[in-house]
Amino acid sequence: MSAKEEFIDAQIKCDKFFSSLEPPANLVTDDVDSFLRRHAGDETPVAIVTSGGTAIPIERNTVRFIENFSTGTRGAASTEHFLANGYAVVFLHRHQSIQPFFRHVSLAEVFDEGFHPENVKMHELYNEVKRTNRLLRVGFSTLCEYLWHLRRIAKSADQCGSRALVYLSAAVSDYYIPFDKMEEHKVQSGCEALTLHLEPVPKMVYPLRNEWCPKAFVVTFKLETQQDLLADKSRSALLRYGHQLVVGNLLDTRRREVFIYDQNGSVRLKLSDAEFTEGAEIEDKIISEVVTRHRHFHKMKEIIGREQ
Ligand code: PMT
Repeated sequence: MSAKEEFIDAQIKCDKFFSSLEPPANLVTDDVDSFLRRHAGDETPVAIVTSGGTAIPIERNTVRFIENFSTGTRGAASTEHFLANGYAVVFLHRHQSIQPFFRHVSLAEVFDEGFHPENVKMHELYNEVKRTNRLLRVGFSTLCEYLWHLRRIAKSADQCGSRALVYLSAAVSDYYIPFDKMEEHKVQSGCEALTLHLEPVPKMVYPLRNEWCPKAFVVTFKLETQQDLLADKSRSALLRYGHQLVVGNLLDTRRREVFIYDQNGSVRLKLSDAEFTEGAEIEDKIISEVVTRHRHFHKMKEIIGREQ
């Protein structure tokens, strides 16, 4: 299949996916639009950060889900670093996954002791973010909710042009059970084996890049469990989608080491043993790198825009 045919095929699959699934009752609307409109108006850079894992229901009256491992730490920590760099953030997160700011605070601190000295800076940032209204949280549980919200938010972020950055760190299910193939009621136990038929989830990076917010800077993630697959898979994602960055990580070492791939090559970011022991976070390094590149991207788009 040529690149163009692959793109058209993906576009058809994505449209089919959305038309086969009802939007969630709580689909984000005005809140997101006004949040993004305000920050587009005051020229604040905006990051859409996705975080946590998506659940796949196996019955329409859902009793059971297929789940994945993601805790949401990457998305929550990255959100704090984007905020510290002056961004406004739409944090699209799995319900009950790790949350920015709150992840640092223990119940003992809240009820008894006041903030731990190390958390004072974080507390100041939290207050400043609240005052300037730079964080909007949107929750999801299922794959369907995640994708409907993502599409809605990304389309609205188009008004921010190249000041928008989309950071897809959620662990998105690769397979799901289409609604018309789902059992209506609880799958009964008692049979010797249970066979489920799952179908591939269309890759949403295609419409995101080409249709929803084509001017935005897009960062995807690539998770593998084998080092020798990581580079090839990350580079082929860049080629396929033509976006700006892929952050490659391995399941076991994801808290200490990542690789950032762009169209020209890659860099390795790593916490030293000392940094890791002192509680430094790899997201600090990832976001510095991503923000530098996004600023450059935005500046170039402005220059090109002025010359046209
Ligand atoms: O949450 P933590 O415990 O801190 O862990 C962080 C993490 C390991 C989950 C994170 O660093 C990470 O790697 N997230 C992406 C995992 C993933 O879904 O990889 P993938 O190879 O399935 O997808 C690659 C990219 O395509 C992702 O950016 C994903 O958002 C996107 N995608 C995936 C499926 C789909 N149908 N459409 C997509 O656009």
